[in-house]
Amino acid sequence: MNLLPYSDEVYKTVERKLNSERQKHEKEACLRRESFFATNERAAHIYNEISELALHGARAVLSGDNSLLLRLREKREKLSKELTKILSDSDLRADFLEAKCNCRICSDSGLVFGNVCVCVRELLKKESMRRLEAAFEEGGLSAKCVSFGDFSLDYYSDELVPGKRVTQREIMKYIFDFCWNYAKNFNLESRGLLLVGETGLGKTHISLSIAKEVLKKGYSAVYVSAPNMISVLEREKFGKLNLGKSESNFIKCDLLIIDDLGAEFPSSFSSASVYNILNSRVMRMAPTIISTNFSMYELEKLYGARVISRIIGYNTRLEFVGTDIRQKKVEKEHF
Ligand SMILES: Nc1ncnc2c1ncn2[C@@H]1O[C@H](COP(=O)(O)OP(=O)(O)O)[C@@H](O)[C@H]1O
Ligand SMILES: [Mg+2]
Ligand SMILES: [Zn+2]
Repeated sequence: MNLLPYSDEVYKTVERKLNSERQKHEKEACLRRESFFATNERAAHIYNEISELALHGARAVLSGDNSLLLRLREKREKLSKELTKILSDSDLRADFLEAKCNCRICSDSGLVFGNVCVCVRELLKKESMRRLEAAFEEGGLSAKCVSFGDFSLDYYSDELVPGKRVTQREIMKYIFDFCWNYAKNFNLESRGLLLVGETGLGKTHISLSIAKEVLKKGYSAVYVSAPNMISVLEREKFGKLNLGKSESNFIKCDLLIIDDLGAEFPSSFSSASVYNILNSRVMRMAPTIISTNFSMYELEKLYGARVISRIIGYNTRLEFVGTDIRQKKVEKEHF
């Protein structure tokens, strides 16, 4: 059923959730039936008879016996009416004996005419968002206040940027607007982004904000810091668990965000891995957002020219300016 872009783990988690909800509702209904039938024998009898009729009905459909089917239906309707009356006489709703269902559209089957129901789509989005935020929070930060709405231009000064005729704030406003539009208009043809600049200027903040919007639009987005990406790939390659699962997820998601490229321990494994992921995504024409504190020259020294050509050739470069906002926020709180 992998028609939507989420990873297998996301599907499996959602499937597990749906199954356990269904089982829970079935169990609750069972208990309700047991206690009600204990005091009302006629209701128990009708309920069992209706269940049996359903089986006969299915057989009649298969054998194409339409007149039998009609008779069975009539009988079922009569019994159902009687059962509803018994329930309403006891001040109970007509569906009191049935398992509760969360979605009226698909009755919790997850499918509507062979398509994935909106309720499942919402669960898939939610689970992806949970994973996105968890991956972000591995870095010790809270994902809560990281969105476009929490991004303020007040932190950037009105001073002219050296060598340019624009201010820091003007540049950052351009970047903010660009990224906002990028997120709002994201589609499978979008290019990647390269966010460069010193520490604390909002690169991570903006990239997670983009990922959240992209997820809300129903695309899959995966956030990972470069050091975590390498350690996950290392564990997968040299361990025995989850062979290639994360790697394939990094390659196949609609939008991959590699944060802090260059912060990982450099090795031939890390540069081969970064190249493999970037190259595979370029071949699929899938966009990647890369953020880094390093210059292209430094990255080239770390990764070699082929990685850099993959980055420069397929990503729009945005150069962040300003002074460390983390520090400014601390100053604002204490003075
Ligand atoms: N323009 C901004 N408005 C509000 N908070 C910001 C802004 N830019 C960065 N921050 C916050 O400052 C901290 C550092 O930003 P971050 O995005 O991690 O910087 P970078 O990734 O460029 O090193 C984070 O807590 C972030 O949420
Ligand atoms: Mg960062
Ligand atoms: Zn549904």
